[in-house]
Amino acid sequence: MNKQAQLDGLRVDILAKNICPELAAQATQLVMGDGNLDADIVFIGEAPGKNEDEQGIPFIGAAGKFLNVMLEAAGMVRSDVYITNIVKYRPPNNRDPTPDEKQAFWPYLIKQLEIIQPKVVITLGRHSMEYFLPGLSIGEVHGQPKRIPFGDDHIVIIPLYHPAAALYNGGLRQTLIDDFLTVPAVIATL
Ligand code: URA
Repeated sequence: MNKQAQLDGLRVDILAKNICPELAAQATQLVMGDGNLDADIVFIGEAPGKNEDEQGIPFIGAAGKFLNVMLEAAGMVRSDVYITNIVKYRPPNNRDPTPDEKQAFWPYLIKQLEIIQPKVVITLGRHSMEYFLPGLSIGEVHGQPKRIPFGDDHIVIIPLYHPAAALYNGGLRQTLIDDFLTVPAVIATL
């Protein structure tokens, strides 16, 4: 089965198992992910916002525009990477996803990574970082690659600040860009 068919199967499974029914009831749609299924880099955000919920594509609002700026700084475009979120329905009023919601979607995120098989996973913000790198603080480890066990092998996680944080704190813009610019060199060592 090709990668798209496998990802489509995950979508069907999430709907059939009625994962997070309260979120599903108020969301427009499930936002599974977008981009290159053979990407070296998978970005993982928090949860869809209003624009993402309406259009079914992750990171297309203001935070997504800044993500595009980061990609451009490294000479990349969105079709070079794959982008998804830990929670795949929009939480009402853009509240933070709850631990239960993150836990419910976690197995599907792992399956997405097993299907796509990226070289590095970039977590955006603490919600997507915390399950891969429990107990670490993003302020201390942002931009630092961490090799962790994954299935029968290992995977490299690079935790970055969430692009939305750069919208509220202009000082973080350059930090995010600088952290992201180190990623190609990390990939080259793998
Ligand atoms: N913020 C996220 O974490 N994910 C999106 O898809 C959009 C905004």
